[in-house]
Amino acid sequence: MPSTELQQQLLPKGFLWGFATASFQIEGSTGADGRGKSIWDDFSNTPGKTLDGKGGDVATDSYRLWKEDIQLLKSYGVKAYRFSLAWSRIIPLGGRNDPVNELGIKFYSDFIDELIANDIVPFVTLYHWDLPQALHDRYGGWLNKDEIVQDYENYARLCFTRFGDRVKHWLTLNEPWCIAVLGYGRGIFAPGRSSDRTRSSEGDSATEPWLVAHHEMLAHAHAVKAYREDFKALQGGQIGITLNGDWSMPYDDSPENVAAAQHARDVAIGTDPIYLGSYPEFMKEMLGDRLPEYSPEEWAIVHGSSDFYGMNTYTTNMIKAGGEDEFQGKTMYTFTRPDGTQLGTQAHSPWLQTYPEGFRALLNYLWKRYQKPIFVTENGFSVKDEGSMPLEQALQDTDRVEYYQGATQSILAAIHEDGVDIRSYFAWSLLDNFEWAEGYTTRFGVTYVDYETQTRYPKASQKFVTSVRASLSALS
Ligand code: NOJ
Repeated sequence: MPSTELQQQLLPKGFLWGFATASFQIEGSTGADGRGKSIWDDFSNTPGKTLDGKGGDVATDSYRLWKEDIQLLKSYGVKAYRFSLAWSRIIPLGGRNDPVNELGIKFYSDFIDELIANDIVPFVTLYHWDLPQALHDRYGGWLNKDEIVQDYENYARLCFTRFGDRVKHWLTLNEPWCIAVLGYGRGIFAPGRSSDRTRSSEGDSATEPWLVAHHEMLAHAHAVKAYREDFKALQGGQIGITLNGDWSMPYDDSPENVAAAQHARDVAIGTDPIYLGSYPEFMKEMLGDRLPEYSPEEWAIVHGSSDFYGMNTYTTNMIKAGGEDEFQGKTMYTFTRPDGTQLGTQAHSPWLQTYPEGFRALLNYLWKRYQKPIFVTENGFSVKDEGSMPLEQALQDTDRVEYYQGATQSILAAIHEDGVDIRSYFAWSLLDNFEWAEGYTTRFGVTYVDYETQTRYPKASQKFVTSVRASLSALS
């Protein structure tokens, strides 16, 4: 085969591929070794908050089975593993004047050492939604700008100090849009604030999500500034944020639907402020004085506060104008084309269908608009009814294999044909796990977890992902 043809089938040198998880979704052992409560502890155990009524007390038991999980990763041949640190294991009460829990530090320190000993690069998320409960109770958590920014920066500094000799890839926050909108707007995630009376009478969903988003950006930016000023020179790592965004494709080529698709992209929290140093015009028009302004000093630290574009993406939405939901940029979305056909294969999650062309389009859009190397930090699929299937059937997860096949082609095409600079691909997820408000009913893992016995069983998708990555990395 001519070498250029061969090159076109390979991932760039140093490309990090692997699987992703998050602390609250896998660890369990919520009372172990001095861990403080997080906002998800009581919330997930409150009747009605999760679909199956189950919380995160056990999850996939990974706090106890961590060595087994690392061996699983090793047997899957990954180059990297993305996981998150539970703030309340490290500082149980969360605050800058609260005591540090050395047992929590030791757990993650040993974990990082073990990854490295197995040739797996640690890719660390500092915050994946499990805010220490004490900070929420003390001052309203993400609603209190001055306090949360300082406490988050203090927590981040501690992590850089204690783990930064070995961790060279940092993510500050995972999916700030979800924290703000689902936690404070729609109220379906902790802390469950929303003015929608069917969920909670607390909160004001017209203002709080935008405030929370603003405070998240500032907390993130302060942590990045701290890293760049006080750690980067010595430790030599990279730091950024990971944002959720699915491809928004106009339903048809009518001008209003084309404009609506752009509005849906604009509403993704953080993108333009971080990478362009401004809000999209549409956000300003839509929210008026409810859109919190940054001072010039704040803009100066928010703008440029990510070394790369961290991208969590799952699906493509066909966008129509005319919706009322501000969190979707006042647009509506559908998976049914004008000719009545479906966009792709339906997942268990109602919001997810297979459409790899959309993934490629989104990679191109982000690359052109922001000109930052892209780290794909999550991408994955929940097979319909997988949770209620017999084990043997669940292990043959053909729809997930199809999804990863498409994703792989899109990545290669984006790199080799479109010239997009992509540095990583993390499949969500290593294991079936606690899928937030959906409890354990929705499974995203390439490994099946029997929650009664905590036995792990690799699915067909694991074999696919591992073999395809191995062949693509062969000469890199
Ligand atoms: C994104 C989130 O980061 C992760 O926690 C979640 O499980 C997946 N999406 C799937 O919904």
